[in-house]
Amino acid sequence: MAVVLFKSQTDNPTLWKTELSRYLEHLDFRIWPDVGDPQDIEYLLVWGEPGDLLERLPNIKVILSLGAGINHLGDLKNIQDNISVIRLVDDDLTRGMSEYVIFNVLRFHRLDQIYREQQLKRIWQENPPVASSEINVGIMGLGVLGKDAAKKLNSLGYNVFGWCREPKTFEFCSVFHGEEGLDDFLEQTNILVCLLPLTVETDGKLCAKTFSKLPHNSYLVNAGRGQHLVDRDLLEALSSGKLLGAAIDVFQEEPLSTSHPFWAHDKILMTPHVASVTNYKTAAQCIAKNINNWERGGDLEGVVNASRGY
Ligand code: NDP
Ligand code: OXD
Repeated sequence: MAVVLFKSQTDNPTLWKTELSRYLEHLDFRIWPDVGDPQDIEYLLVWGEPGDLLERLPNIKVILSLGAGINHLGDLKNIQDNISVIRLVDDDLTRGMSEYVIFNVLRFHRLDQIYREQQLKRIWQENPPVASSEINVGIMGLGVLGKDAAKKLNSLGYNVFGWCREPKTFEFCSVFHGEEGLDDFLEQTNILVCLLPLTVETDGKLCAKTFSKLPHNSYLVNAGRGQHLVDRDLLEALSSGKLLGAAIDVFQEEPLSTSHPFWAHDKILMTPHVASVTNYKTAAQCIAKNINNWERGGDLEGVVNASRGY
């Protein structure tokens, strides 16, 4: 019997219950705040900060995030070491993110904004085409999402570079790692894509210092977290011509205030945190598989390392 407590202000518990029941043979599904006997709860399925809820669940074993990011849980140091924190790893979520990244790389590469402006002004003008092999796409974060986007961009002919924490090698992209590898990575990047998790180290990483290392006329795609980006530094980089355009999916404040300067900026392409949205059908299957595997003594997939923060 798996006793699961579901807590989210944005996800529909009924849909999740129905879907999880298909894959978990014995499911006791409780919806916060109707916890029942708190001693029963073994699994917390959550989006948002649990607050003091964890203190009231003495037998909780696993916290499963309803998304890939886990920064919504707050400071991981407040979670006891014997509780595993799991981020969502789901092929459907990965596919969605790669679509978003490829879509925006193509928009910038194929001068979508320029041709739309030309159309509005009825201007028939060919701009010199550039081959994908002449464009360097630099992906910050080569985890589950970054790796898939890198592989697919490489198959489209782009020169792909990646930046991560630990050294690694892939045939589909050149890899730079650590602070010592950051400048070399940035200096070669024409389109910078951020797919980092939000941690103490990555907070504010998309800042003036980072932009200053990019070649002139670069582009930015941010689908990591809004806190990665220093908003005023982006506006400055766009007005100086360091950056020609930016596709931004995540924001410091969500929903974004209607008075924020990004809304009306002609070089910023905004989406409301939809780069890749958790699909309850596929995600429930992945989560149930993880729980079933763990109940049978196997390993959990997507375990977060609390000391690294992701
Ligand atoms: P992973 O944990 O699989 O990958 C994280 C990657 O970031 C790893 O390659 C890691 O390096 C790298 N990294 C972490 N810290 C640093 C650092 N300090 N310096 C350099 N590299 C670092 O995460 P996912 O790929 O699953 O997800 C990434 C993020 O995408 C999520 O945390 C979330 O914020 C965001 N996201 C956004 C969505 C949206 O709709 N906008 C949807 C889903 C996710 P290493 O490989 O060396 O460990
Ligand atoms: C996630 C997200 O982390 O949707 O999955 O941002």
